[in-house]
Amino acid sequence: MKRRAIIAGTGAALPENCVSNDELARKVDTSDEWIVERTGIRFRHIAAPHETTATLAHDAAKQALETAGLDAGQIGLLIVATATPDNTFPATATKVQAMLGIDDCVAFDVAAVCSGFLYALSVADSMIRTGVADHALVIGAETFSRILDWEDRATCVLFGDGAGAVVLSAEENSARGILSSKLHADGRHYDLLYVDGGPSTTGTTGKVRMKGREVFRHAVTNLASVMHEALEGAGVEASEIDWVVPHQANIRILEATAKKLGLSADKLVITVDRHANTSAASVPLALDSAVRDGRITRGDLLVLEAMGGGFTWGASVVRY
Ligand code: UT7
Repeated sequence: MKRRAIIAGTGAALPENCVSNDELARKVDTSDEWIVERTGIRFRHIAAPHETTATLAHDAAKQALETAGLDAGQIGLLIVATATPDNTFPATATKVQAMLGIDDCVAFDVAAVCSGFLYALSVADSMIRTGVADHALVIGAETFSRILDWEDRATCVLFGDGAGAVVLSAEENSARGILSSKLHADGRHYDLLYVDGGPSTTGTTGKVRMKGREVFRHAVTNLASVMHEALEGAGVEASEIDWVVPHQANIRILEATAKKLGLSADKLVITVDRHANTSAASVPLALDSAVRDGRITRGDLLVLEAMGGGFTWGASVVRY
């Protein structure tokens, strides 16, 4: 019998405070026109002091459990993908576990920045298929606003805060589920997108530094290539895809990648306009939004993809 991890439920959480480009332009030397034209971003949510990566992760997880019709106690594995943990240690996953009232499960964080959710999804899929757990929570959660340099207009306008979650459940002989995942990393590009601090180097948290143009150039090539790989792994053609659920960094990256695969732009789930780049949260946030508004329906063939600091990148093909 073939055991697979199916997506049983999705959830999302966004901070209450939603900030427009115009509001940002009052504090930062930028304009709505520049941001929209270069990135497609119109709004981003910014966490208040009481909203942390763990509280957002918890709220998204709770909603995903509700849609899956599961109790928190049934979860055997909980992974939080984040680059902005509540504390250096322990893992934010253990904080979320306690908030959900789960007394015992496997819980840890995954650090692959914007690709974190794809990495976490792939790890959870493997652990479900090998019988470690029957039900898993995979959460992407970030408070990037806390590591932004608000003096650096080239980065601070691009990011937002939020969390998205999925419940994965084991199913035998199902046509649904995660069909294939491909992951990559190339640490030679460490310095193109990084945070200039950390416990082992400066002893400070640090701020985001990015060479945007170089990241952009690599993103389109790497994403198109890993999507090809994942499709091949699943034995499906690009023409069979119903929805691409991409990492939401820049509308121009999304459209250029779709074009490279010969896909029409109306197959893209786009949330970058409302959420900006929420790093590890962006793919599950986009997934949840398209499930909730009825665009993605059961049986649809999805491709999830992301690329971020490291560089890391990956794609998963999922029959929803
Ligand atoms: O999630 C991880 C992956 N991250 C990404 O995928 C990000 C990839 N990179 C990008 O999305 C784009 O490179 C950016 C949106 C970051 C930048 O767009 P760009 O078209 O590459 O612009 P640029 O950095 O080359 O800057 C062009 C101009 C510069 O002015 P000059 O030198 O031409 O006079 C910048 O100073 O735009 C200026 N600029 C701004 N102007 C107004 C940079 N940031 C801003 C700003 N407002 N916020």
